[in-house]
Amino acid sequence: MKEKFYITTPIYYPSGKFHIGTAYTEIFADTTKRYKKLRGYDAYLLTGLDEHGQKIETVASNNGKTPQEHVDEMAKATIELWKKMDIQYDDFIRTTEPRHEKIVQEIFDKLLKQGDIYMGEYEGWYCLPCETYFTETQLVDGKCPDCGREVTRMKEESYFFNMKKYQKKLEEFYEKNPDFIEPESRKTELFNNFIKPGIEDLCVSRTSFDWGIKVKGNPKHVIYVWLDALTNYITALGYLSEDDSKLKKYWPADLQIIGKDIIRFHGIYWPIFLMALGLPISKKIYAHGFISIKNGKMSKSKGNVIYPEQMIDRYGLDATKYYLLREFPYDRDMTITPENFVNRYNGDLANDLGNLLNRTIGMINKYFNGELDKANGMRTEFDESLKELALQKVKETEENLDNLHYSDALEKIWEIVSASNKYIDDTKPWILFKSENNQDKQKLVSVMAHLVENLRIVAIMLQPFMNETANKIFSQLNIDKKDWNSAYEFNIDEGIIRVAKDVEPLFTRLEVDKEIEYLENLIKGAQGKKD
Ligand code: MSP
Repeated sequence: MKEKFYITTPIYYPSGKFHIGTAYTEIFADTTKRYKKLRGYDAYLLTGLDEHGQKIETVASNNGKTPQEHVDEMAKATIELWKKMDIQYDDFIRTTEPRHEKIVQEIFDKLLKQGDIYMGEYEGWYCLPCETYFTETQLVDGKCPDCGREVTRMKEESYFFNMKKYQKKLEEFYEKNPDFIEPESRKTELFNNFIKPGIEDLCVSRTSFDWGIKVKGNPKHVIYVWLDALTNYITALGYLSEDDSKLKKYWPADLQIIGKDIIRFHGIYWPIFLMALGLPISKKIYAHGFISIKNGKMSKSKGNVIYPEQMIDRYGLDATKYYLLREFPYDRDMTITPENFVNRYNGDLANDLGNLLNRTIGMINKYFNGELDKANGMRTEFDESLKELALQKVKETEENLDNLHYSDALEKIWEIVSASNKYIDDTKPWILFKSENNQDKQKLVSVMAHLVENLRIVAIMLQPFMNETANKIFSQLNIDKKDWNSAYEFNIDEGIIRVAKDVEPLFTRLEVDKEIEYLENLIKGAQGKKD
């Protein structure tokens, strides 16, 4: 039986159109899912929407809609976007679905009965857009530490979760599971700033708004967003429902992907909720950094937002994904610049990879009329080192993929691409072709076999990142050995190579100035947009 691998993304707030930052979380998750599947896992990816809360209520009423109408429209749009991004999710949960709402009420009841939840009064600095209370010390210059906006002093009767009770247990958990949160730097920060100084009890209900799941025995209280939101990861699997077979199969989560802004909720409250419910804690939480655009943090009011559709429509899905995954460092933030994008597109995609495929197919068509037998090959002095390099890079790519270092993984794949391009320059196939010497003809066979084999290996490893591109390479080279393990095979001795006759380039070079201007305008075009 296949080993399971349960991956989750955050459920997104459908308060407005999703920008490229949100898309990145989803792309990262999709890459993980595809890779794990390729490695033989029963990989299961959950995504969805976090549809309750005051912010949704406000946005809906501003648009003259009921909250339900608003979230229904947003859910439809999100599913369309995920389709456009070819996200291979297995389940899409909406927190307004009965399968979630009913169970959240039961979870609340259970925690109340156990004494983990108690009634109290909350007073604090409240950030409306973030729907979060902050203590005086958490504020930055008197403003919200997360979004920088104004906060308001608020007080209300609320239910609280007794987090303090779990302080020691959580610390012990962190000691025993040093890899629970990645990257290490973010874990250390969370531990030193929020766990060690003492965890505060968490307010888990609100009476100040209506759009949420009501506490069963006290319906003037709406279950506050984090208890509602975080539990999606288990309600989607059927926790406390009639059919909890998925929960039995997939829980605990193997990888929960989030952005760094919600690490506190996933690194403190989530494991504590799970402890209280008697469920095992997730194996890993990976918190990626933030994307900003050129002149600072993305925001509609600043007018520097990019939406995923805009990139995909103009440059294609694979180029968009490649850029994000290649440029986003594992443990830092990323800045998108038009220059950088065009550079990567032209350099890595059109020149390095695109040309390698084109040259290889062009040469096989020209020198061998599209077909050759590898058995007729004779090694050149450059062959052995190219083969060794490729196999070494497969190993390194795999290690990086296993460690979620996707940018490094792509770098390793491109080292094979570059080495292959250099190999063409070194072996000079056009001279071998013109030579009268029979041995040179045999060497030419070997050179083509090496290029095809390298492209095959590259395409195998590109599958999780750029599935369409990988498939184009497979089909143009007529390759059917696509499984991950066969990337470790380097077959240059046997078999017939048969390539396509007419091929379209994988990526067409962009006109540098024109595209930079286009992207500049696209970013500026976000100015004043209300959606
Ligand atoms: N609803 C909560 C999550 C609840 S999970 C139980 C939420 N939603 S969100 O829509 O605001 O954010 C969703 C994800 O997008 C988060 O992981 C967040 O970190 C990520 N990003 C939002 N802006 C981003 C960037 N500018 N860059 C990268 N990721 C960003 O939080």
